[in-house]
Amino acid sequence: MRSYFGLLLLSLLSPIADEAKPAQVSLPKPLALEMSLGDALRARSSTRAFDPARKLAREELGTILWAASGITRPDPAHPQGGKRTAPAAFEAYVIDVLVTSEEGTFLYSPKDHVLVPHATAGKKDLRAEIPRTGWLKDAPVLVMLVANLDRYPAQVRAERRRDYSHADAAVIGENIYLAAAALKLGTVLTADAKPEAGGLLGLNENQRIVFILPVGHANAEAAK
Ligand SMILES: Cc1cc2nc3c(=O)[nH]c(=O)nc-3n(C[C@H](O)[C@H](O)[C@H](O)COP(=O)(O)O)c2cc1C
Repeated sequence: MRSYFGLLLLSLLSPIADEAKPAQVSLPKPLALEMSLGDALRARSSTRAFDPARKLAREELGTILWAASGITRPDPAHPQGGKRTAPAAFEAYVIDVLVTSEEGTFLYSPKDHVLVPHATAGKKDLRAEIPRTGWLKDAPVLVMLVANLDRYPAQVRAERRRDYSHADAAVIGENIYLAAAALKLGTVLTADAKPEAGGLLGLNENQRIVFILPVGHANAEAAK
């Protein structure tokens, strides 16, 4: 009898548990990005007005994330799956690439090229809550570059960790700018996280949102 009620309880609870936890999202193979590097550099610019009605295709999002921090030299012996599109101080890869959108909040896993539901934020769309500035939330996706300073090797002094993390995040930011230019999408690198935003992502004192990049289609009319 007891096991019957145990099973009944489990079957009642499981749909609730599944409902609360968004599923892992697989991403398609990154697009080829065929614009020449010279043209991408010329086209790169900051966009601050987005068309809220135009979503990103999954191919576009996957390509932006791969350009940000995707693996280019897979190595099964490497603790993080291999080396990446962006250089990283001490090869420590301290920057996590997170995205928040109407689908929820996810961590990009370079190793598997998938989006993993964020442990704390889960199904929450944090576009209106993380940035200080209102217009960022018009973009369909916010990419957040989150540093985990604990990942630097022990010999790196505490005061240098912050400096390195900004450089690590900036090179990723430029990759996102160039990929967005090649895909004819808009973006801008901002240091716009609210001071309290880390709490929404469950960050500890050695983790911080270094930059936020909204990504979407530019609203050409609003930009005039
Ligand atoms: C480290 C850094 C921080 C920035 N922070 C912001 C920001 O908080 N808000 C913003 O709108 N733009 C920000 N920008 C974008 C610059 O304002 C922009 O790159 C500059 O105006 C030149 O314009 P362009 O990117 O179109 O060439 C930042 C750029 C960098 C490199």
